[in-house]
Amino acid sequence: MRIGVPRETADHERRVALVPDSIAKLVKAGHEVLVERGAGTEAGFPDDQYEKAGATLVADFTAAVQGAHVVAKVQRPSADEIAQLPTGTALVCQLAMATAQPTIEALNARQVSVLALELVPRITRAQSMDVLSSQATVAGYKAVLMAANALPKFLPSLTTAAGSIQPAKAFIIGAGVAGLQAIATARRLGAIVSAFDVRAAAREQVQSLGAKFVATDLVSAGAEDKGGYAKAQSEDEQARTLAAIGRHIVDQDLVVTTAQIPGRAAPRLITAEMVRGMRPGSVIVDVAAETGGNCELTVYGETVVEGGVSIIGARNLPATLPLHASQMFSRNVLTLLQHLDKEGALTLDLADEITGAMTVAHAGTVRR
Ligand code: NAI
Repeated sequence: MRIGVPRETADHERRVALVPDSIAKLVKAGHEVLVERGAGTEAGFPDDQYEKAGATLVADFTAAVQGAHVVAKVQRPSADEIAQLPTGTALVCQLAMATAQPTIEALNARQVSVLALELVPRITRAQSMDVLSSQATVAGYKAVLMAANALPKFLPSLTTAAGSIQPAKAFIIGAGVAGLQAIATARRLGAIVSAFDVRAAAREQVQSLGAKFVATDLVSAGAEDKGGYAKAQSEDEQARTLAAIGRHIVDQDLVVTTAQIPGRAAPRLITAEMVRGMRPGSVIVDVAAETGGNCELTVYGETVVEGGVSIIGARNLPATLPLHASQMFSRNVLTLLQHLDKEGALTLDLADEITGAMTVAHAGTVRR
């Protein structure tokens, strides 16, 4: 099969969908890979590495996708790019489902099959194709580094000739993939770490990383759906959660929030009043900023300072660590392509648990 890898054009995007190592594996399996010049440059993969891996370097988007059976991208294509995709090709990318409907309709109108990477089912068999997990790992790590960078203090405890330093206190709200990585990173940097999540399974995971679980009484077995995701809380549960977070947060230096409910705006868990109760110099990094933020004061892509507390509205954190984010993303895409490859041809078997869940448009039909 012929695979096209264009350069990403979205603002702030520095990743690439396939890195040379994955391309070498695809070429070895007999596939042809066309890569737009400069596609991997910002992620740290120059054109010559792609050439060595066996890719054919081409000048622009049109040449990269021409005749492709499948096009692999990080971000969904722009209207201009959609107009250049060949009829009958399959597009594999993150669609940002909440706002993707017009893009899906436009792709479907061109008879492009569309596979949304974020719809990979959360099952063991599909774990190696799961970009939500790989990119959330990057986001959780980077959020702590951003907070540490903005803090006016050390994270670890230090004993020096110039006196002793007390460790910083870090509080992670939402202990899914990003939150658990944030906990591990803050622990490695020497902070005293606590965390909160509504799911019962998260409590054990938080504790196994050496962090304290806050408000154990608010966790319930019914907090998650059958897919393992959190459900929205009732008004009463939310009020009790806010009260518990409000009591705990006043004493924290570094807060990373990652709480999400699939298909909804991020739950509001930190009010402006809570922020005003925190010590000046404290930092909140809101990883849920793109879906509205867990903090009332969050502005997506900006840093707001309120009473000396910085609230960083994180934007596309995986793109700020593009080398490893691309490497992990690429491994996910490679495994998916291997899954779709049946004797050298791209096959979309919609009855397959993985392919069926991810395919949002095929053969002129929008499937969701
Ligand atoms: P996510 O990005 O949807 O949400 C992040 C976290 O926020 C979740 O842990 C959620 O419980 C929490 N949250 C939601 N509302 C909250 C609130 N009001 N207060 C505090 N926390 C709140 O979740 P993510 O990281 O994508 O993982 C979701 C689930 O999927 C987890 O159960 C995870 O273990 C599971 N998973 C399974 C995989 C597999 O089996 N292949 C792969 C990755 C994750």
